[in-house]
Amino acid sequence: MKIHVTIYLLAGLVLSQLTVLAQTDTIKPGEVWPDAQGNHIQAHGGGIIKVKNDYFWYGEQRRQGLDTNYRYVSCYTSKDLVNWKFKNDVKIAKPDTVLDKWVIERPKVYYNSKTKKYVMYMHVDGQVKSTTPNQKPTSGYGYARVGVAISNKPTGPFKVLKTFRPLGHESRDIGQFIDDDGTAYLIFEDRPYGFRIAKLSDDYLSVEKEMCLIPYHMEGGAIVHYNGLYYAIGSALTGWSANPNKYATATSLAGPWTDFKDIAPPETKTYGAQSTMMIKVVGSKKTTVIFMGDIWKPKTQWDSRYLWMPVEIGDGKLWLPKPGPWKLDVKTGEATVIKN
Ligand code: DGJ
Repeated sequence: MKIHVTIYLLAGLVLSQLTVLAQTDTIKPGEVWPDAQGNHIQAHGGGIIKVKNDYFWYGEQRRQGLDTNYRYVSCYTSKDLVNWKFKNDVKIAKPDTVLDKWVIERPKVYYNSKTKKYVMYMHVDGQVKSTTPNQKPTSGYGYARVGVAISNKPTGPFKVLKTFRPLGHESRDIGQFIDDDGTAYLIFEDRPYGFRIAKLSDDYLSVEKEMCLIPYHMEGGAIVHYNGLYYAIGSALTGWSANPNKYATATSLAGPWTDFKDIAPPETKTYGAQSTMMIKVVGSKKTTVIFMGDIWKPKTQWDSRYLWMPVEIGDGKLWLPKPGPWKLDVKTGEATVIKN
C-alpha cells in the first residue's frame, strides 16, 4: 500500500515537473513552436484577440490527415502570448455549391461585447464552376469573397451565415484591426485596385463603411495604431514566396497615407516571412508592437513556421529587427531580445 502511494506521488511529481518544463518564456522565430501538448502550432495566416485576460489565436489549421471535405480554423488560447493551448478546430463545410477546389484562408475572429458573440471573418475562395458549356471555370482564386460565421463561445461551434464581396469589391487576403476605441475594421485586398480598410457594422456581421483605398497591391494587410499614428503593413503579391514587406503611415485611417517603405532589408525578403497581423501589448511599463508573420512552406504547409518579433516603432518609422529568440512579459509590456 505504502509503495503504491509513493509511486503515485512520484508520478505526480514527474508530471508536474514536465508541465513546468513545457512552459517557456521565449519566442523563437522560425522554429517549431510547440503548443502545450508538444505539437507544432497550426494557426497560419492567423489573428489574435484578447478577451478579458485570455488571448485567442485563430488561424488556418493545416495539420496532415484532415478530412478533405472540410476546411478547418484552429483556436488556441494563452495568457502570455508565448505558451499556447490548443482548444479546438472549427470545421467549415463548403459554403457555396458553385465552388470547386475551395480554400478558407486568413481567418480572423472579433469579439462583440454588445452582442456577446464571436464573429469570424475568413477569406473564402476557389474555382467557380462553369454553368454553361461556353463558360470557362475561373482561376483557383476567382470567387474572392469573405465568409462570416458566428458563435456564442470563442471555441465554437461557429455557424457560417453568408459569403459576400465586401461593399461589392473583390476580397482575397483579409486583415483584422481593432482600434484603441474598440472600433473593428476589416482590411481586404481588392485585386484590381489595392488595399481597402472598412469599418464593420455594430453587430460586426457586415462590412459597413469604407475608410479608404490605399492604391497599392498588397497582401497580408495589417494595421497598428501607435502614438497617434496608424501604421499599415503588407506584402507584395508573390503567392507563397516571401518578398520585402512594406509599411506606410497616416494620422487617420482615411489617409492620406505616406509612400510605402521597407520594414526590413529588402534582400532578406522580410526574413522569409509574410505579414499577417501586428499585436500591440500595452503593459504597466511599456507598449510593445509585435510583427506577426508566416514563414510559408508551400509543399509542406503543416510545417509552415511563424516569425514574431517586437518591432522598432515610433515617429513614423517601423523596423523589423533581425529575428532571434526573445522574451515577452505581457504584464509589463517589456520585450527582451536575447543576444547570442
Ligand atoms: C498569398 C496570400 O497571402 C496567402 O494567404 C495565400 O493566399 C497565397 N497567396 C496563395 O498563393
